[in-house]
Amino acid sequence: MVLADCEAVAAIEKECFSQPWSRQEFENQLTLSMARTYVCDEDGQVIGFINVWVVAGEINLNNIALTEKSRGRGLGRALIEYMENNEQAERCNLEVRVSNERAIGLYRSLGFEEVGLRKGFYSEPTEDALLMTKRYGET
Ligand SMILES: CC(C)(COP(=O)(O)OP(=O)(O)OC[C@H]1O[C@@H](n2cnc3c(N)ncnc32)[C@H](O)[C@@H]1OP(=O)(O)O)[C@@H](O)C(=O)NCCC(=O)NCCS
Repeated sequence: MVLADCEAVAAIEKECFSQPWSRQEFENQLTLSMARTYVCDEDGQVIGFINVWVVAGEINLNNIALTEKSRGRGLGRALIEYMENNEQAERCNLEVRVSNERAIGLYRSLGFEEVGLRKGFYSEPTEDALLMTKRYGET
């Protein structure tokens, strides 16, 4: 992601989440050494993104989203695989709403395992978070 992408990324974020990060918050990500945001571009338009923080050998997957019409075409999988190919870490952790079957299905199919539940973690609406982890480089 570059500065010029932040407006489109924030618009996708707003379309997908009840408590979205603002454009300013995405711009701030560009200044944090631990933060990486990758965008998916089609015909010059940003149609999706993934944001992670890499701290002490662990990736925290904060957010991944695609415009509604871009979903179900393998692009979510491609974004995660691209991020994994560009980052070096021992594991990747994430939280996901327990009702988000598509995202959970994607994470499972990429090798993420369910490791816990955070009761009432999300608001608007209140919902539990499933904690998922993927380990890299283990036999
Ligand atoms: C979640 C999201 C990023 C997934 O991206 P996507 O491009 O739609 O997903 P893909 O097409 O790459 O699907 C990959 C896999 O997810 C799984 N999947 C897809 N749709 C599913 C569904 N309805 N139920 C269960 N699993 C599903 C499948 O394993 C699929 O692989 P396959 O088609 O090869 O079998 C996208 O749907 C999105 O932007 N959703 C709104 C934002 C969001 O919820 N983000 C996650 C926050 S934690």
